[in-house]
Amino acid sequence: MCRLISSVIIISWFTLTVGQNLVLIGGNLRNDNTQIWNKMVDLAGGSGVAKIGVISASKLNTLEGEKVIDNFVRLYGAKAIGIPVSATGANDPKVAKLVEDQTGIFIVEDSEDRSWNFLNWVSSLVRPSDGSEEPPAGAVCYESASYKRQNLIDTLRPSGKDSLVLAAIKTLLNRGGMVAGNAAVMSKSAIILGGDSISALVTGTRFVSFSRIPFSFRKEGGLNLLNVDYVIESQLSEKGREVRLLRTLVESDTPKGLGVDENAALIVKNPLTRPVAKVMTARWAVSGVLYLDVSDIPTQSIANALYENVTFSFFTVDDVIDLTTGEVTFPSWKTNITGQEWFKNAIPSNDILSRVGPSQWRETARRLIDCKELNVTNYSPSSIVPMIPAVRVDLDRTRAAGMGADLPGDLNNTYVASFQRMLASVKVLGIL
Ligand SMILES: *[C@@H]1O[C@H](CO)[C@@H](O)[C@H](O)[C@H]1NC(C)=O
Ligand SMILES: *[C@@H]1O[C@H](CO)[C@@H](O)[C@H](O)[C@H]1NC(C)=O
Ligand SMILES: *[C@@H]1O[C@H](CO)[C@@H](O)[C@H](O)[C@H]1NC(C)=O
Ligand SMILES: *[C@@H]1O[C@H](CO)[C@@H](O)[C@H](O)[C@H]1NC(C)=O
Repeated sequence: MCRLISSVIIISWFTLTVGQNLVLIGGNLRNDNTQIWNKMVDLAGGSGVAKIGVISASKLNTLEGEKVIDNFVRLYGAKAIGIPVSATGANDPKVAKLVEDQTGIFIVEDSEDRSWNFLNWVSSLVRPSDGSEEPPAGAVCYESASYKRQNLIDTLRPSGKDSLVLAAIKTLLNRGGMVAGNAAVMSKSAIILGGDSISALVTGTRFVSFSRIPFSFRKEGGLNLLNVDYVIESQLSEKGREVRLLRTLVESDTPKGLGVDENAALIVKNPLTRPVAKVMTARWAVSGVLYLDVSDIPTQSIANALYENVTFSFFTVDDVIDLTTGEVTFPSWKTNITGQEWFKNAIPSNDILSRVGPSQWRETARRLIDCKELNVTNYSPSSIVPMIPAVRVDLDRTRAAGMGADLPGDLNNTYVASFQRMLASVKVLGIL
């Protein structure tokens, strides 16, 4: 009898939650990333069935929104329409109904520039020109100015309360629809708005630095489409954001963080109930997702700009992470690296936090997990103009476990490696 009841409960829980799918995109998703675009279409019902609503916080469709629609319609066989949402539109039942009529939603950060009035003009003068360079061709989910990220969240979730449109997005998710967008806005935890790893490391400490873009985050959280507390970064490795994520976690008192690489995604099943995430990348890519746990890092680390023995993991294509327990399942084609390391030496980086020298932290750790050495000491250089202190980053794999393999079907034998429990220590050395 008991057994019968519990199996009935299990079945109804399963049918209630089957099919909820959130796609956390790591930024700069390329138009030709067939894996991820096809996956989004499949999760929204498949080619010829999928109807995608492309949501932007604006009165009219934006440039990025148009690119997303064009990709879905022209390249990937889905129907797609723009759903621009203004501050009043966010609580308009007609707009909410339009959202619910779709099988999938893609949220873009690009929103209109604010209309001209004196106040907006003054604030545009003091606003740092962060990231509003020319959007890259052939990609969506590119970095836009941080006020656009704020504007999107303020529009869909004003004062931390779901608008009708956001409630409709959740209804669509619960019904088994697909929701996608930049990973960095989806969490209920702190949302990072600006700065790089160096400014995140030294802001408010005794170490002087004149960073181009100040470090800032939004404590009140984002769109709340994920039922677990994680601070989430996008373009993680490519922009060297490991330390920016680290400080945000400690300062916002959030133990765990995820950093998704460019042109990669986490496909999250049951985001609103029991989220389980799978890593998806472009074909033949060694990119993936950083997983950071700061639960044993003391808060005074911030003031001292000194973080010791921070545990981090990195997951690559097909790895599955239970976001509630942190448990990880590796695909059967990956094998244990421990004791089978290929290289003799680690290769230290002399620009480990680089925003431009691509993915130095990721590549240094990838080499370390697959070599005979146990640790590697890296540096980030100082400069006088602008004034930036030198930083030392030690990585240690003594307690780490690695899993890797040549990518199946790749004639170039690209080797991908995942690992758990590597340690990083980050220390500011001072100017020169
Ligand atoms: C960090 O780890 C090293 C090596 O295991 C150890 O010697 C050191 O005491 C640790 N530091 C802290 C603050 O835990
Ligand atoms: C990998 O191999 C090491 C050394 O043989 C062993 O300690 C570890 O448990 C193995 N890991 C897995 C996941 O099997
Ligand atoms: C780094 O690893 C080597 C062995 O490869 C070891 O002798 C050394 O003590 C380690 N250094 C630190 C700081 O743990
Ligand atoms: C192998 O690498 C070359 C050069 O990077 C690239 O042009 C080619 O497409 C790759 N082939 C496969 C099957 O990955």
